Amino acid sequence: MFKFEGANILSVQQFDRESIEYLFRIADAMQPYAHRHKRTHVLDGAILGNLFFEASTRTRVSFGTAFNLLGGHVRETTGLKSSALAKGESLYDTARVLSSYSDVIAMRHPDSGSVAEFATGSRVPVINGGDGANEHPTQALLDLYTIQKEQHAHQLGIDGMHIALIGDLKYGRTVHSLCQLLCLYKDLKITLISPAELAMPDKVISAIENAGHQCIITEQLEGHLDADIVYQTRIQQERFPSEQEANLYRGRFRLNQSIYTKHCKSNTVIMHPLPRDSRSDANELDNDLNLNPNLAIFRQADNGVLVRMALFAATLGVENLVNRYESEVRWYSNKGNTVN
Ligand code: ASP
Ligand code: CP
Repeated sequence: MFKFEGANILSVQQFDRESIEYLFRIADAMQPYAHRHKRTHVLDGAILGNLFFEASTRTRVSFGTAFNLLGGHVRETTGLKSSALAKGESLYDTARVLSSYSDVIAMRHPDSGSVAEFATGSRVPVINGGDGANEHPTQALLDLYTIQKEQHAHQLGIDGMHIALIGDLKYGRTVHSLCQLLCLYKDLKITLISPAELAMPDKVISAIENAGHQCIITEQLEGHLDADIVYQTRIQQERFPSEQEANLYRGRFRLNQSIYTKHCKSNTVIMHPLPRDSRSDANELDNDLNLNPNLAIFRQADNGVLVRMALFAATLGVENLVNRYESEVRWYSNKGNTVN
């Protein structure tokens, strides 16, 4: 099994199925703390360096929230221009300096391979929060955790399921990481729906095929949405050579309730790593799906806190001490709520 304690989390390829199951058991145990029904101070005195050199809402805030919920403190930097990287400092030097201010670092950067390069200079574990179009391992872990829960709610597992991934599969780092993780499971049908120019990279397709999964590649939504999971993605405008080029694909694959009713199964689960592009020329996941109980996008984002708490606890080696440092949440119990 993968040894989490002290390790960098740079790529999903580090994991085997056993280590993922181990991590998900820790994530399950984080629920009372994530829901603020109980507190834990297990990381009291520890500092997270939360370094986001590229735009983020969920990943940055949920890393910080996860660390706070374990009792630790968060130091943050956002944006490339406001960091000394803009003065020509190397990732190595930045890592040498910031790793002496932190016990663990989470980092996002626009360049593929940048987080791994940073990790060579770090003296503390580094967690990849997204490196260019390459990988987004913690998103893939929370996606897989969500898939497992949603499938379980329908008395189904991950082995044997059908997942359809839609949109910008070329630049979408979440789908690169998720497909690699799905290679640890058995007998899947994976349908890749994208414009030919935004197709999934060959190395990911080879990994899917080498895992023995059935892989369907198509440019059509119709006829391919009767899956257990439909995973929609955003056109990754920031990775295109120009905005005009991104505009060619924006809005190509829209999902709304009438398409869902016509083409999906009655219990098809809809996922999206978010943000969904809700501008009228894109509207890739219509608001009219908001009341559909199978729209899992916000449950998916909530699961990010649990999975990131589990990762921090495991990489810092305190996963078995969490409840020893437990206390009640005073504002919650003062309101007359039961602490359970
Ligand atoms: N938030 C995800 C990412 O950073 C997906 C997206 O931005 O479309 O990769
Ligand atoms: N899913 C995700 O990575 O969201 P952010 O870009 O808002 O962090």
